[in-house]
Amino acid sequence: MKHLLIVYHSQSGTNARLAQAALRGALQEEGTETRLLRAVDADTSDLLWADGVLFGAAENFGYLAGGLTDFLARTFYPAQMQPRSWVYGTFIGTGNDGSGAVRQLQRIARGYPMREVAEPLVLRGPVIDTALARCEELGLTLAAGLAMGIF
Ligand SMILES: Cc1cc2nc3c(=O)[nH]c(=O)nc-3n(C[C@H](O)[C@H](O)[C@H](O)COP(=O)(O)O)c2cc1C
Repeated sequence: MKHLLIVYHSQSGTNARLAQAALRGALQEEGTETRLLRAVDADTSDLLWADGVLFGAAENFGYLAGGLTDFLARTFYPAQMQPRSWVYGTFIGTGNDGSGAVRQLQRIARGYPMREVAEPLVLRGPVIDTALARCEELGLTLAAGLAMGIF
């Protein structure tokens, strides 16, 4: 059984709703077990449990939101000491940009190392049904790809 960790930070609820949608999608794949955690509640043991990670957060001040950056800062060195790597995807529920957050996450992820296996999903503005549907699809893509061993 493959393991997918969805780890997110959300200050006002946007990315929490997107994360729930991603979870709904991932749970459609029975060959992968999925764990959904707020970044503040997640630690290195969750990362080591996972084969793949789906990150979610806003962009704040042009950077990846601090709650998710904190998770990355706490897990980076412990993860690097492991002889392994991860696959990952990203959703950024954000105001009007998101490009800085994507760039920053891609740069950090390379160091773990993590390999990006889906186009980053940048969802700007209020959460609407199409945004939820796209997150659901992203969750299913990660979970199914892990289960089928195509990553
Ligand atoms: C302090 C602050 C800074 C922000 N900076 C950006 C930004 O640089 N780029 C952007 O696209 N949105 C920015 N936003 C908008 C947030 O990304 C947006 O409100 C998002 O939906 C928050 O998601 P969350 O509730 O899941 O944390 C900012 C919001 C706040 C409160």
